[in-house]
Amino acid sequence: MTTGLVDNGAMHVVSVAAECEPWAKAGGLGDVVDALARGLGRTGALDGPVDVFLPAYRSVALPANSLVEEVRVDVPGPYGPSTPAHPDGVGTVIIRSVVTRGYRLRLVDFPPAFDRDAIYGHPDDAWRFGLLGRAALETLRAEARPVDLLHVHDWHASTALVLRDRFYPADPIVGRGHLAAILTIHNLAYHGWVERTELATLGLVVGDPVVGRGAAGIDLLRAGIERADLVNTVSPTFAAEALTAELGFGLDQTLRWKAAQPDLAGQPRFLGILNGIDPAVWDPSTDGDLAAPYSAADRAGKASCRADLLDRVGFDPGDDGPVLGMIGRLDPQKGFDLLAEAAARLLAAGARLVVQGSGDPALAAPFRALAKRRPDRIVLNERFDRVMARRIYAGCDLLLMPSRFEPCGQGQMIALRYGTPPIVHRTGGLADTVIDEHLHPGTGTGFVFEHPTAEGLAGACEQAFETRADAAAWSGLVERGMAVDNDWASGPTAAYLDADRRAIALAHAPGAGQSRRRAPRP
Ligand code: GLC
Repeated sequence: MTTGLVDNGAMHVVSVAAECEPWAKAGGLGDVVDALARGLGRTGALDGPVDVFLPAYRSVALPANSLVEEVRVDVPGPYGPSTPAHPDGVGTVIIRSVVTRGYRLRLVDFPPAFDRDAIYGHPDDAWRFGLLGRAALETLRAEARPVDLLHVHDWHASTALVLRDRFYPADPIVGRGHLAAILTIHNLAYHGWVERTELATLGLVVGDPVVGRGAAGIDLLRAGIERADLVNTVSPTFAAEALTAELGFGLDQTLRWKAAQPDLAGQPRFLGILNGIDPAVWDPSTDGDLAAPYSAADRAGKASCRADLLDRVGFDPGDDGPVLGMIGRLDPQKGFDLLAEAAARLLAAGARLVVQGSGDPALAAPFRALAKRRPDRIVLNERFDRVMARRIYAGCDLLLMPSRFEPCGQGQMIALRYGTPPIVHRTGGLADTVIDEHLHPGTGTGFVFEHPTAEGLAGACEQAFETRADAAAWSGLVERGMAVDNDWASGPTAAYLDADRRAIALAHAPGAGQSRRRAPRP
């Protein structure tokens, strides 16, 4: 049996993902991939830095003078012309590796797939991310260094598990029984569905055992759930919600099947691990983008940040009315439409809104219209803007997260740390990280509403305005929020390390990967 773990007790962990901050990020996925790789690297449980495979998107910029090691790897499959050795085609990718931030970033450079403007949203995304998964596997095989754990994120990297089981099932490095696999689900709403007519873009055909006879296509996320040793999502509450028809996005049955299969210690194979944030990255006392530093011990600088934000967006800094911030992807998940609907009521209560988001222009339209009518009370920054986001977290009085569902959410944790109480819908990770001050006066950290409606949101905002009118109550609320410990190092990293070890034990258990009970098909 080849495993670094058995040889020297330290794990060799490889992660594959479509995003990794600060190199490529569209949402929270990127933050987690980066923070987890850094966190695991610091535990001393690994045999070296985590390898993080990421597409070399056009936008990825490495710092000048980076020491980059380049190797060429031939990747069989529909990535280039056929040759006698590879009748189905072969493409040559360059793997550009650089040790940075405490992990080894491994950029998969293949311009036809990744030298494009946006990370997602291309008609050939399955082909692009199939290449990511297969290039990672081929690189590991070429290096022939034992890997203990492959950590794949969302559907994009689930390709690695499908292609492993199709093309390399008995490989001494990446095959089953050698390489344990964890799948982390950040977004259950995106499955990577590939029609049967498109299977060739992954190098698959109908009738392949990984696809199934008579299949209409392949759901890559479902396949990842079936093939990973352990599956997790990013909060305990969302892990429970994902098992229901309402929030399971059609995969609840597959997840219930996974959860019902115990591992060697009798623990379920589907679990929730709450994300953290990096307290060094999110620290108002050192954040260089803020007008003034502040901390829990001395919050004076927050007022300057507020004045600075209001000034920048053209609001009257002298108006003491509540300023509500909302930041996120313009995606139906996030509930921007609820805020648009509640806006008139909030304005009538004296509030002002600072909204930032990029994505679906239809979701931005109502804010654009409102901002045009009331530029003194509503502003929309319709782009992904890291610096402005920090100023909003710091400068607002309250941060809104009315998400319909939220596997974890990061904004609420940042807001807590920045002394800006969050107002959230009781769902997923939001429910796990915010304590409702209205229900628990004197012990809350924010405001939590039950139903994802404009009513629910506006009601919680009004409760927040009431608390804000009581200076002592408000100060206690802010103080408690700033004291919440969501550090990756305090819990999540150890929880992943434990999950990694469980997955490794499962992968090496006798009979692992052979005739497992099949997942049910809806
Ligand atoms: C996705 C989820 C979000 C989570 C993030 C990181 O973006 O929607 O809730 O925080 O992934 O895990």
